[in-house]
Amino acid sequence: MAGTILIRNASQLVTLKGSSDAPLTGEAMSRLEVIENGTVWIEDGLIKLADSDEAVMAQFTGNYEAAEIIDANGRLVVPGLIDPHTHLVHAGSREEEFNMRLSGASYMDIMNAGGGIHATASKTKKAAPEDLFQAAYNTLNEFLLHGVTTLEAKSGYGMEWETEKKQLQVAKELNERHPIDIIRTFMGAHAVPKEYKERPDTFVDHIIEYMLPRAAEEGLAEFNDVFCEQGVFTPEQSRRILEAGKKLGLKAKIHADEIEPYKGAELAAELGAISAEHLLKASEEGIKKMAEAGVIGVLLPGTAFFLMAEFADARKMIDSGVPIALSTDFNPGSSPTVSLPFIMNLACLKMGMTPAEVITAVTINAAHAINRGREIGSIEQGKKGDITIFNVPNYMKLQYSYGVNHTHTVIKNGCVVVR
Ligand code: NIG
Ligand code: FE
Repeated sequence: MAGTILIRNASQLVTLKGSSDAPLTGEAMSRLEVIENGTVWIEDGLIKLADSDEAVMAQFTGNYEAAEIIDANGRLVVPGLIDPHTHLVHAGSREEEFNMRLSGASYMDIMNAGGGIHATASKTKKAAPEDLFQAAYNTLNEFLLHGVTTLEAKSGYGMEWETEKKQLQVAKELNERHPIDIIRTFMGAHAVPKEYKERPDTFVDHIIEYMLPRAAEEGLAEFNDVFCEQGVFTPEQSRRILEAGKKLGLKAKIHADEIEPYKGAELAAELGAISAEHLLKASEEGIKKMAEAGVIGVLLPGTAFFLMAEFADARKMIDSGVPIALSTDFNPGSSPTVSLPFIMNLACLKMGMTPAEVITAVTINAAHAINRGREIGSIEQGKKGDITIFNVPNYMKLQYSYGVNHTHTVIKNGCVVVR
């Protein structure tokens, strides 16, 4: 039961307040709004006040005796982390492909030979919903232990409606039964099924005419995503799918310029997509257009790391005015990790982001990437009581002391869920 919670004695309370309307860009990505010796007052699941201990206690009108007092004891307190891009619900894993890649095979070769996404799709198709639920539930517990309180989950291991629907329904049920909030994205256009190999446009028609209307009508997704990549969906096919989704009220997301430059960033800008993800090979022109259109770049350095590829040019994107968010891309092929804190380390060490920018990218900007900027992503009045406490005295140490899970306490909707 969510009653009154007071988190006191935070060495640094990072609020990120004042950015609920739009994601932060450029230098503003470093404007964390840090309060020393901060206190957070949460009432019935929502944040009432976040300020210095003195200021909060002077205005506190709750019942102190009945309140749960959490002594942060000189630790770092930040908004609950948000992971805006995962492929949460799926069956099995693909460690044998990892071995093949270590011996020189490429991710796309494996996929084109019928492995990769196709391999996970055939396992997911056969899996019982209860088994998908249980596997994803266990994964969500691990996410929670790494400080994540909200995440986005895509379908995409069906490429036919029944399995896509099964994945989305499992994600919906997980949202109801697990403390982590789950935001759903339809991704029927994740790969071209074998039977459509010679006529991919027919598959695109099928997505547009059959799957998308069902995803929208049945209220199973808020977003629509496409793997726009050489050998998968062309920019023209991606455009058709994303435009059709928009007409049905599904906001556009896009896997763009992940393996090869393919003008995915440009397309995201033209379509007014909420976000473009990956962007390892995004062109200078594409970055410029994204900045002009306000498209959020969701960067996934774990994928570059795991595919042993070049990292996205986060520095150029931030300096060009693209709002940046970070994510694990949790999936069995290109990024089998739930450690958003490790992604944060990679963002600093491999993409030249500063520790302050990284915090913004996994909180308020990640919230905006899933259209939740008004509900979560900062610690300020009226927002959800979603808080992560890390066992470090300041946010810089979170990045400096790398490869360690510093998560200490997690509070979701005003309830302590990890302690
Ligand atoms: O974001 N690129 C496409 N989709 C995922 C990988 C999915 C898989 O390999 O199973 C990604 O990298
Ligand atoms: Fe992905």
